[in-house]
Amino acid sequence: MSKAAEYLLELEKADFRILQSIEVGMRTSEYVSIETVVEFSKLTIDEVIKRIDALHFKDLILRWKGHYIGYQLTHHGYDVLAFRALSERDVIVAIGRELGKGKESDVFFAFDKKQKTVVAKIHRVGRPSFKRSKKLRSYVGRRGHINWLYKSRLSAEREFQGLKLAKEIKAKVPNAIDQNRHIVVMDFFDGIELVDAYDLKKPLKVFNGIMTQVRKLFVKGNIVHGDLSEYNVIVTPKHDFLIIDFPQYELANHPNAKEYLFRDIKNLCKFFNRKFSIESNPKEILDVIYSEYEEKLQKKKK
Ligand SMILES: Nc1ncnc2c1ncn2[C@@H]1O[C@H](COP(=O)(O)OP(=O)(O)OP(=O)(O)O)[C@@H](O)[C@H]1O
Ligand SMILES: [Mg+2]
Repeated sequence: MSKAAEYLLELEKADFRILQSIEVGMRTSEYVSIETVVEFSKLTIDEVIKRIDALHFKDLILRWKGHYIGYQLTHHGYDVLAFRALSERDVIVAIGRELGKGKESDVFFAFDKKQKTVVAKIHRVGRPSFKRSKKLRSYVGRRGHINWLYKSRLSAEREFQGLKLAKEIKAKVPNAIDQNRHIVVMDFFDGIELVDAYDLKKPLKVFNGIMTQVRKLFVKGNIVHGDLSEYNVIVTPKHDFLIIDFPQYELANHPNAKEYLFRDIKNLCKFFNRKFSIESNPKEILDVIYSEYEEKLQKKKK
């Protein structure tokens, strides 16, 4: 279980106010002082001091001792704030075990108020790391302290948007339920990653199905996935499948869209060739899809 899930029930309203005050304070200063927390949270200084120690002990905030004492949210602290917001909206009422871990996300099972299983994908872009932080700071300058927080939220927003756009044209993607900060909540699809699907009886059927979706997304939905591969398709033994992992999507009129589309197509052609000996011509597939897209644009102009 995530640390956030563990603490979500223990924390009191005043604790959340403190965490939130630190979150707001971090927009303007690297380390948020106790005085700022007192000001934003409208709690007494005694209460802030008492609670801030407990929050620090729980690893939800980070303490810095310089010419003053200041605090930052840890990613556990940020998780707590996002989960709390989602549970206040009744989107999820409980968090379950970990379902998967990507390079830039932690994915958990969660449950909505009707006990339905859903998925909470926590985006973690630019996870703070001790080794890299010095170098990172020189890249991102003064706002380095909130870089991971900002990038992770942006990534979640983008994924939520991408899933919505894809769903509008009824593409085979998970239904996105809600998003708060760096967390996206979506429907759970009970399958396995295509990369692990050794016993697909009709691989050609799945290959054609995915290419049909790629075409639909581009021509009808005006978007390209941008990170499509055997890791981002989930399949069932009955050959049903969904395309997941949308934070990298781009609009079809983006200057590099055609290049991304080609890359997506090539990834899948290569995989199906290697694993299932399916022969295909990525360039031909690209040309078919792209000319159909251009035709649509021409028609619109008239
Ligand atoms: N809606 C879902 N239903 C079932 N399983 C899911 C769902 N979303 C994600 N998963 C599982 O979690 C794994 C990671 O999710 P996802 O691919 O979206 O993120 P990621 O790989 O971390 O992203 P990145 O490519 O940025 O590292 C998936 O490969 C899949 O096994
Ligand atoms: Mg993935």
